[in-house]
Amino acid sequence: MNLAKIARRRYTEGVTPLEKLSNLSKVLDGPTIYMKRDDLLGGTSGGNKTRKLEFIMADAIQKGADTIITAGAPQSNHCRLTLAASIKENLDCHFIIEDGAPNPYKEKASGNNFLYKLLGVKSIKLVDKDADLMAEMEELATELKNQGKKPYIIPVGGSNAIGALGYVACIEEIMAQLFDKNIPIDYIVVPSASTGTHVGMLVGMLGINGNIPIIGISISKPQDILIKTIYELAQTVLKDLDINTPLEKSDIIVHDNYVGGGYTVPTDGMLEAVQLLARSEGILLDPVYTGKVMAGMIDLIRTNFFKKTDNVLFLHTGGSPALYTYEDIILEKDFYTR
Ligand SMILES: Cc1ncc(COP(=O)(O)O)c(C=O)c1O
Repeated sequence: MNLAKIARRRYTEGVTPLEKLSNLSKVLDGPTIYMKRDDLLGGTSGGNKTRKLEFIMADAIQKGADTIITAGAPQSNHCRLTLAASIKENLDCHFIIEDGAPNPYKEKASGNNFLYKLLGVKSIKLVDKDADLMAEMEELATELKNQGKKPYIIPVGGSNAIGALGYVACIEEIMAQLFDKNIPIDYIVVPSASTGTHVGMLVGMLGINGNIPIIGISISKPQDILIKTIYELAQTVLKDLDINTPLEKSDIIVHDNYVGGGYTVPTDGMLEAVQLLARSEGILLDPVYTGKVMAGMIDLIRTNFFKKTDNVLFLHTGGSPALYTYEDIILEKDFYTR
């Protein structure tokens, strides 16, 4: 595997910190916990999409694009960061946003929606929640082409074979940090949604012949669907990178019991996790992704999946702007006070 051969833009200076969370380990009476602070990546308010966009934007630029089209939910971190990268690259950026329960689009909503407007998105087209987002993006691309533009479509979450390379690169970065700091990590906990992050981490681990298990926590979909999606995308990335180590479906670990009522629907575990991290470590999680992933890790600690002697690495993928759309519910009940 040689990532240096692949076109890449950079939106982060240096590497993201690998932080030891001693207070959290103490509160949970659990294993030693580290956090890869990808919430501190470049782009507006950082997050995992920044790594995917380094490779995706490079591809768009190579193909001569002057306009980016992407899609997501009303509070999409992916849309926000795609817009931020487009601004850096002097490209126009348009969104297709899905609208409908439990996430109706609110024109004046705070969080990512406010940032779309502050950053100056070119257009937002609202479509039904069940619409075919790729078809909608293609339709917009045709309209823009007719106006003389050169549009480039980025799929939801930036989760294609190019975007996943961002997390193959992240594994190389993590392994160098672990070697440098002499930290013997036993498990890595990651989110699994549109799956580019999980796929990149798995493929990266195979590519360096590493053997640290990657534990995915679902924030929306059932385990069997995620495993199928991860497996299929991973096969493409493995092939693209000439990695011959086989990946079997049985090698893919996904827990789907922390989703609760569904995508964006709060759970007590998420609310506890968000408060706990804020009040024990001064770190902001988000209510939709990292809050539920952390709730999963906390439960795996409490149910003794991890031994006290283990070293566990949690991948923080960002998303804190969405916190400001959940203010009331997050402070409704005290789960943890110092
Ligand atoms: C903050 C945050 N964490 C995790 C994820 C999930 O990553 P992936 O879509 O690569 O599975 C997302 C996706 O939107 C996100 O915004």
